[in-house]
Amino acid sequence: MSFLLKLLGGKSSVGGLDLGSNTVKLAQIAKTPTGFQLSKLAVGPTPAQAFKDGLIVDARLLADKVRELILNNKLNINRVVGAVYGQSVVIRPINMTQMTDRELQHAIRFEAERYLPYPVAEANISGLVLRREVEGEEKTMEVLLVAAPNDLVKNTQDVIKMAVLEPHAIDIEPFALVRSLQLTIDPEIFQKTVALINMGATFTGISIFKGGILRHHRTVTVAGNSFTKAIGQSLNLSFEEAEKIKKDKGAIRLEKDSTPVAPTTMRIFNVIVPVLTELITEIQRSFDYYRSRYRGESVDQVVLSGGTALFKNMDAYINNELGIPCMMADPLKNISLGDIVGLSSDEIREMSPSLMVAVGLAMRDQMRG
Ligand SMILES: Nc1ncnc2c1ncn2[C@@H]1O[C@H](COP(=O)(O)OP(=O)(O)OP(=O)(O)O)[C@@H](O)[C@H]1O
Ligand SMILES: [Mg+2]
Repeated sequence: MSFLLKLLGGKSSVGGLDLGSNTVKLAQIAKTPTGFQLSKLAVGPTPAQAFKDGLIVDARLLADKVRELILNNKLNINRVVGAVYGQSVVIRPINMTQMTDRELQHAIRFEAERYLPYPVAEANISGLVLRREVEGEEKTMEVLLVAAPNDLVKNTQDVIKMAVLEPHAIDIEPFALVRSLQLTIDPEIFQKTVALINMGATFTGISIFKGGILRHHRTVTVAGNSFTKAIGQSLNLSFEEAEKIKKDKGAIRLEKDSTPVAPTTMRIFNVIVPVLTELITEIQRSFDYYRSRYRGESVDQVVLSGGTALFKNMDAYINNELGIPCMMADPLKNISLGDIVGLSSDEIREMSPSLMVAVGLAMRDQMRG
């Protein structure tokens, strides 16, 4: 069987599957003599009933959607890497007594107890050493505690299996994001302190990396749906109508910009100001925490990803509010595009910021770490 597959042009590659609450994205990356290529891509709306409050509640429905995307986009795929995300994924730096990596994997389960809002026995837990020594604190090391409830992991695995795929691995979102980040930004900036803000529909993930190492992560619920709901309520529109008008006419008005805009755009902007303010407050809170934990170290660069980053002027707005350089993520910057069914290159390049997770998952075996 494997011999036959080899004869037929090699085994199908591992895909990256981002099961978002708004959009399902499935990407395959191939290594070619001239660099990486996005060989396949499938993107489609998530069935509304499949998620509730950011959690998968109907695995079958979601799996059928994945299957449909694979068939319609002619993907030759049988193994995927998935990701878990959301507020139950706990990622935080903690101080522990110095010990070996082996001892740590045992000890972290006891240590985790006080940080988790669910029983340790029902969670996937790991510890990654961030610093072997902590300045001013004897025999102490700093560890990144990473925990996800078993149920969350199982739900994602179930969807993959029900879609007749093999779960090759389940990652946490920030680990996928940092691989894509490396493809996006200049190596000098990658070595600095970079905040990646992944703005989806239900959640916004705020991750801070230093030299590509994850040091802080928080998930907040101010995200795309918050904008859509605010617009729907104020303009008396259904969720679907509000979603459409948000994408078609929405724009953030920048303080210094006095060019006239359409009345609908102005109305949308006025309605979303409180949501924007809340978002900035949450980002500031993470940055403040980071600064206090790491003795005044601050964020050098902000990178935006996720569908909500496509809101017009979001990058300029965040740049102004935080006073820190802010850019849009583009994981496809140095990746060529293969023959992708149903999407033009312009469309793919435009949606690039929202493909950060899927691309990062697809790159898992190509870029270890
Ligand atoms: N041009 C646009 N302007 C404003 N918002 C947009 C635009 N395009 C997409 N969005 C919003 O982006 C969100 C979808 O982004 P994304 O695909 O990153 O979310 P998701 O991964 O499905 O969600 P989550 O990770 O929160 O479960 C939706 O809220 C959608 O309305
Ligand atoms: Mg997402």
